[in-house]
Amino acid sequence: FHSLLHHRGLRSSCFPRALSSQTGEDFSSLPVGVSLHGLTKIYGDKAAIENLNVSFYEGHVTSLLGHNGAGKTTTMSLLTGLFAPSSGSIDVYGKDMQTNIDAVRKELGVCMQYDVLFDHMTTKEHLLLYGQIKAPHWTPRELREILNETGMYPHRHKVVGTLSGGMKRKLSISIAFIGDSRLVVLDEPTTGVDPCSRRSIWDIIIQQKKKRTIIMSTHHLDEAEVLSDRIAFLEIGGLKCCGSPFYLKETLGQGYKLTLTKKVIILTCNAVNSSCCSKALLICVHHRRGSSATCKK
Ligand SMILES: Nc1ncnc2c1ncn2[C@@H]1O[C@H](COP(=O)(O)OP(=O)(O)OP(=O)(O)O)[C@@H](O)[C@H]1O
Ligand SMILES: [Mg+2]
Repeated sequence: FHSLLHHRGLRSSCFPRALSSQTGEDFSSLPVGVSLHGLTKIYGDKAAIENLNVSFYEGHVTSLLGHNGAGKTTTMSLLTGLFAPSSGSIDVYGKDMQTNIDAVRKELGVCMQYDVLFDHMTTKEHLLLYGQIKAPHWTPRELREILNETGMYPHRHKVVGTLSGGMKRKLSISIAFIGDSRLVVLDEPTTGVDPCSRRSIWDIIIQQKKKRTIIMSTHHLDEAEVLSDRIAFLEIGGLKCCGSPFYLKETLGQGYKLTLTKKVIILTCNAVNSSCCSKALLICVHHRRGSSATCKK
């Protein structure tokens, strides 16, 4: 998956300069899809996010990681215009989010942390409804394609109220990608999805990332590593660090940690050959096939 880590082919001089100060890596040649400038959101007297400065690049999948309550969903809610920031600003493809919210939303696809679906409508009706709003030019072939890609084709006539949690998730992800949205925000897209379906969702995200800025959050570290061109770690509403998975591991990783559990077995003379025989404790590595044991004192 290392080839996924460095997607640097896209260049443009007409995009705003990247906010790369916190990254330690130089992405300044990449087109900036979204940039957050001093973004702060205060609920009551508590800051959910505080002074976030970070850029998200076109052609990149950027993952937001962080513990529960770190501020990932809050950041995404501001990115989708659900809430207004307390201070700071968001630029989406050069447009200020606050003053151009309608224009920004035309190019925005969202999969929120909790599915926002209508129980009495079928899978297909959902796609037709959102398709009608976001992509009236959609053909039945494109509709079938997205149903097939997400494995939802056999469930297209079921009402959403009867779908499993994972199926609802897949429908929400499909809706986010309708209409070639340039900014796609996915809040924990694969939570509750089975491993095989998770893998097919990864394929969709990788396939769709070209020409889009994808911002997703996840609690799965394997997923973040495989999918992300960059990872931003949030902690108590602040940006802890940001960079490609390779860069973060190189600069902040402490190598691999291998945990061995020692199984201590007291062997009798009959169990192993007599040269090992003693009443000492032996550590044994058992070979499954020959049921033999290599022993060390
Ligand atoms: N509507 C709200 N009103 C008040 N406080 C809120 C609201 N939404 C979020 N918060 C607070 O803001 C902080 C960040 O919450 P947020 O939902 O953004 O975290 P998160 O990183 O998405 O967590 P999780 O991994 O659990 O989804 C938390 O302390 C939370 O209690
Ligand atoms: Mg959240």
